[in-house]
Amino acid sequence: MQNLDPVTQIQLMSGGYYLSRCLQIVAELGIADLIDDEPVSAAQLANSTDSHPEALSRVLSLLCAHGVFDRVDGRFQHSDLSRIIRSDHPASMRAFARMFGIPLIWQSVIRLNDSVATGRPMGNDVTEGGLWRYFEDHPEDNAKFNSTMAAKSQVVVPLVVAAYDFESLSRIVDVGGGRGHLIDAIIKSTVKPTGVLFDQPHVVREAALISGDRLQVLGGDFFTDTLPEADAYVLMEVIHDWDDEHAERILRTVRNAAPADSKIMLVEAMMPDAPVPCWTTTLDIIMLNLLGGRQRSLPEYTALLNKCGFDEVREIPVGAGHSIVHATFA
Ligand SMILES: C[S@@+](CC[C@H](N)C(=O)[O-])C[C@H]1O[C@@H](n2cnc3c(N)ncnc32)[C@H](O)[C@@H]1O
Repeated sequence: MQNLDPVTQIQLMSGGYYLSRCLQIVAELGIADLIDDEPVSAAQLANSTDSHPEALSRVLSLLCAHGVFDRVDGRFQHSDLSRIIRSDHPASMRAFARMFGIPLIWQSVIRLNDSVATGRPMGNDVTEGGLWRYFEDHPEDNAKFNSTMAAKSQVVVPLVVAAYDFESLSRIVDVGGGRGHLIDAIIKSTVKPTGVLFDQPHVVREAALISGDRLQVLGGDFFTDTLPEADAYVLMEVIHDWDDEHAERILRTVRNAAPADSKIMLVEAMMPDAPVPCWTTTLDIIMLNLLGGRQRSLPEYTALLNKCGFDEVREIPVGAGHSIVHATFA
């Protein structure tokens, strides 16, 4: 983008949501799954997805311009970027692209001006009870969200597992662990520790299959329920969902359950010192607009943790812009 002239750059940024919407729709229709090794015509793709051939062709052509699919003699074939929106790709991002098409998210984006005016998230305004209640009431969108969490974690989870000596622990609770992709990977990469996946009941129901001898699945609410005792609590991309007041409540729930020599590990994408076009800076605006959370820096995490009774805060960078923010009991 930077090698384009300024007018074109502003044009592309201004209309960028059309590109995003095209990607969501193509992911929703499962177009990438309909193309194997041979190029496929828009007419065939439209026939399989109940779409208008010319309209679909134009949408795919825009995506081609950004490297998602290649157009060859009027037919479409895979590029590296289109392959990862296939459902069967080992690092599939199809769920991720689909999730951004959920109407609740679009409705909040339209009201980003109100977030800017007030500092408040719009998730609660556009649906009663906010995002988490919405997902509880809309199982199909909840499944998209939970798949997205698994998809976005594919790169980070192996980095986290490699960066810390989890074998030295006895019992690890993954608080707000979604379908359990992190705790499952930790348990599979170790021989001794046992794990607990803790998340909302309708979320952990989707994770029942990962429960094994060393892994327990527990449904609950981290604002009202007591967490199990353990010597380590991991929270991956949970604290970033919340404003400071709610983040402190979650950290205190951990603090109240944690025995004296236990540890807490926040796995988060750290806010870069200087604004650069990376996913974390976009995520910060999503948090502002949808949930009222924020991407934080190490000093901001340190202040939060110290306030809630944790000490010796240190950052363990794991790669891919993520770190473990590690702390012990004060
Ligand atoms: C952004 S997701 C992160 C999921 C997972 N840790 C990951 O990084 O892939 C936040 C998680 O917090 C959970 N959550 C939200 N409110 C909760 C509550 N009150 N009690 C327990 N879990 C909650 C959600 O269900 C969701 O799985």
